[in-house]
Amino acid sequence: MATKQIDTRTNHRINAQPRLHQRAPEIQSYRTVNHALPLELEEPVRLEMTEQLNQLLADTITLRDLYKKSHWQVAGPTFYQLHLLFDKHYSEQSELVDSIAERIQALGGVSLAMAADVAETTRIERPPRGREEVPVQLSRLIDGHQVIVRQVRILARRAAQLGDDGTNDLAVSEVLRTNELQTWFLSEHLVNMPLVKAEEPAVGTGAA
Ligand SMILES: [Fe+2]
Repeated sequence: MATKQIDTRTNHRINAQPRLHQRAPEIQSYRTVNHALPLELEEPVRLEMTEQLNQLLADTITLRDLYKKSHWQVAGPTFYQLHLLFDKHYSEQSELVDSIAERIQALGGVSLAMAADVAETTRIERPPRGREEVPVQLSRLIDGHQVIVRQVRILARRAAQLGDDGTNDLAVSEVLRTNELQTWFLSEHLVNMPLVKAEEPAVGTGAA
């Protein structure tokens, strides 16, 4: 009969069996911040900042996912360029998601993470599950950017006012600048431009 090994230092039985299906109470609740952090930022400041950053995080995760949906579902003559562009923007938004979430944790807060919680929090309009035409895809993405750009400017100003320079820098240098640039790249696709033949001037409007 096999004998069980005993760790003589701890007197615990050593067992190779994984301990599965474990659960325990949360170690920190959502909408709280750690009390003692050596950041020289008061708890009320960190609470307000993490609350606003979680809103920004929910909207950024939603916009990121809207880009992947658009990347998969796009159709038509511009399929290839939009398929690639949507995925590039998706990757850039993914980096923002990580930066925002880690900023929340660095401030002692708790980041939103799961899809159901994000869906309850975001202010970006939910699209249908089915496919939509390109102008609608582009319009939805631009609307999503607009929600974020509006909020992040308010967040940046408030962060500066409260002395949270790190959050201000993240908001302006990363989130705002990336969203402004991506908005430009999308908007140019909605200009009604002739593809082959330039528009001829109307009769009687030529130079004198
Ligand atoms: Fe892909």
